[in-house]
Amino acid sequence: MAVKRGKLIHAGKANNVYETDNPNYLELEASNRISAGNGEKRDVIEGKGVANNTISKAIFTKLEKLGIPTHYVGEGSNDASKIVKKADAILLEVIGRFKATGSYVKAYGVPNMMPFDGVYIEYTYKSDSAGDPRITADAIVANGLLSRRELGYIEYITERVAYAVKDFFAKCNGELIDFKIEFGRLPNGQIIVIDEISPDTCRIIDMTTGQSLDKDRFRKDLGAVSEAYVELAKRVEKMS
Ligand SMILES: Nc1ncnc2c1ncn2[C@@H]1O[C@H](COP(=O)(O)OP(=O)(O)OP(=O)(O)O)[C@@H](O)[C@H]1O
Ligand SMILES: [Mg+2]
Repeated sequence: MAVKRGKLIHAGKANNVYETDNPNYLELEASNRISAGNGEKRDVIEGKGVANNTISKAIFTKLEKLGIPTHYVGEGSNDASKIVKKADAILLEVIGRFKATGSYVKAYGVPNMMPFDGVYIEYTYKSDSAGDPRITADAIVANGLLSRRELGYIEYITERVAYAVKDFFAKCNGELIDFKIEFGRLPNGQIIVIDEISPDTCRIIDMTTGQSLDKDRFRKDLGAVSEAYVELAKRVEKMS
């Protein structure tokens, strides 16, 4: 049954969210907008929306196949959008790291690309006004964002997502360095993976050239941002 796009309800830093004619579903459209440093640095990258959506849809399809509960329903009304289950967003960004880089290196001064034993997981509180600060497990529970049991579940799911996404990008000759995911609650209380999983939310290094194939190209002014996103999407399409 086709889902019809309704009115725009949110234009975020990178994505547009639309209502649909099904009250349980939303249409999530990846735009070409890019931002870094909590929105301080902004630009528009040709082809990014379609590339991100191609990659995100393929990853969510894989997660669903593995039995990991997500919001993914199916294709949207254009190549940059997907239909998702409407959830109550949990105000956390859950970060999984295979190697230390970015804010972790900045915070702790360890060598760049220091490998972790397994997946290192940390949380930030999703609040643009507070600058998405790190939040501890105790504060997540104390602040009522999640119960202790739900937090354990999210950690378990994040670890499964980590290895699934690592394997996904490895098939595209990319090494997953780290990633961010978001979770939401369905009306029945079920916690699911929401939002997007794309080069905007993952760090991926080309296994042959060592070049970044993600938003670091924009953050660090490395150039060829659009080319990297489009190239990765091409590899994903070849794979499926
Ligand atoms: N299945 C879902 N149900 C409800 N909300 C969702 C779902 N998937 C994603 N979202 C929300 O949709 C928005 C997508 O917009 P975008 O990614 O541009 O936001 P952002 O820049 O990351 O953050 P902000 O919300 O501050 O704009 C996010 O707020 C995200 O939490
Ligand atoms: Mg987002």
